[in-house]
Amino acid sequence: AYASIPACNSPCPGGPPAFSFDIDGVLVRGKVVLPEGLEAVRKLTTSEGRWRYPVVFMTNGGGVCEERKAQDLTTWLGVRVTREQVILSHTPMLDLVPELAQRPVLVSGRGDVLNVARSYGFQRVLHTRQLGRAMPAATPFSTYPPDSEEAPAAAHAVAGAALEQPDQAGATGGGEGRGAAGRPPVSPSGSGSGSGGLCPVRDLGLATETHPVDTVLVMTDPDDWYRDAQLICDVLTGAGVPTRSAAEAAAVGAPHVKLVFSNPDLLWANEFPKNRFGQGAFAHMVLSLFGRLTGGCRPSHVTFYGKPNPQPYRLAERLLLTQARQLGLPLPEVPPGVLPFSGMYAVGDNPAADVRGANQAGDPWVSVLVRTGVFQGPGPNCDVDTAQVAVDDVAAAVDAALHHTR
Ligand code: G3P
Ligand code: MG
Repeated sequence: AYASIPACNSPCPGGPPAFSFDIDGVLVRGKVVLPEGLEAVRKLTTSEGRWRYPVVFMTNGGGVCEERKAQDLTTWLGVRVTREQVILSHTPMLDLVPELAQRPVLVSGRGDVLNVARSYGFQRVLHTRQLGRAMPAATPFSTYPPDSEEAPAAAHAVAGAALEQPDQAGATGGGEGRGAAGRPPVSPSGSGSGSGGLCPVRDLGLATETHPVDTVLVMTDPDDWYRDAQLICDVLTGAGVPTRSAAEAAAVGAPHVKLVFSNPDLLWANEFPKNRFGQGAFAHMVLSLFGRLTGGCRPSHVTFYGKPNPQPYRLAERLLLTQARQLGLPLPEVPPGVLPFSGMYAVGDNPAADVRGANQAGDPWVSVLVRTGVFQGPGPNCDVDTAQVAVDDVAAAVDAALHHTR
C-alpha cells in the first residue's frame, strides 16, 4: 500500500514528477550505502542507465566540490550523476560571490573548503587553520601539522607587543603605546610596540586593521571545533581583527563581521546507532560562547543556509527545470513562476531539515520522510505529523511518488 500523498494545491496535471534526495540517512549512513538507495535508483533509470525524471541530490553536507560529490554518488549508486545534480550545504553560497569576491573572507570547515571557496570565486579567502597557525598562542590546545597551503601574503613574522609589567605602564596603566583598555597593541600587522613579544603573529595580509575580515563562512563542520569557535569569536569581537578587543573595534567604529552557517542541523545520521551532532550544534556553541563573551549579545549579522532554509530549494527548482527540458519531457504550459511538475518529491530523514524545508518551500514540493536516518519515531526534534508522506525507506518513497503521479 502506498502512503497517501495529499494532492498539491497547484498540481500540474500531465507534468512529470521531480525528485530531490537527501544523502545522509537516506542513501548512505556514513560510508555504508543503503541497499534501498540502489533500489530507488533502479526505479528511476532506464535499462541504459539514463534518468527517467529530473533528480537532484540535496545535502546539508559539504567540504568537497560538487564534481567530487557527483563522482562519489556515481560510484555509490551505479548511475551517472553530474555536478549539476548536486546541491551541497555551501553550493548556494555562490550567490554571495558578486558581493564578497574582493572582500576578506574567513572560511571554516573540514575537507577542501578553502579550495572550494576559491573555485566559487572568493579571491581573498583565509581558512581558520591558516589563521590559527599564524597566531599559535590564540589556540593553545590545537595542533597545526605542516601545511601545504601557503597562506596569502605570508609577508614576514612579526612580534606582538611584549606584555609590559604594570610598573612600566605608569599608575594609569594606560602607558604610551598601549591600546584602548590598557593593553599593549598587538595585531597581525605587527603594530605592537614590543620586541620579541609573548604573542608572535605572522602577518597574513588579511584579518588585519587594514584588511579586516568582512564575512565568516562556515562551509561545513569544522575539523577542530575548539579552534574555530575561538577564532570566529575573536574575529567577531574584534570586528574582523582577531587580536583586537571589542573596545578597540568600537573605538574606531569598525563595521561588524557577517557570520554565515551553511547547515543548521543539530543532528545527522551516520553508521553510529545514535544521531550525531551536526553543524547546527557547532553554531549553537559559537553563538552561546559569543553571548557569554558579550554579556548576552548575538552577532549582528547571522545567516543560515542549508535545509530547511529556502536557498537550496530555489536552486533545486532551477536545476530540476533545466533537467526536465534536457530530458525532453513533455511539460504543460504554466503561468510564469509556476513549476510544471506534478510533484517535487523531497525525500529526507530529518524532520527538522528535510520535512520542514519541503513544507516551507511550498507547492509543488512534497515532503517525504523515511525512517532510515535521523527520524527514529515520534519524540523530540521530530515533526512526523507535518510530513506529507512517511515511509520506511527511499525505495518506498519512490514507489509512493510514482503511484501518486500516475
Ligand atoms: O553534515 C551532514 C549532515 O548535516 C546531514 O546531511 O545529507 O542528511 O542533509 P544530509
Ligand atoms: Mg539526512
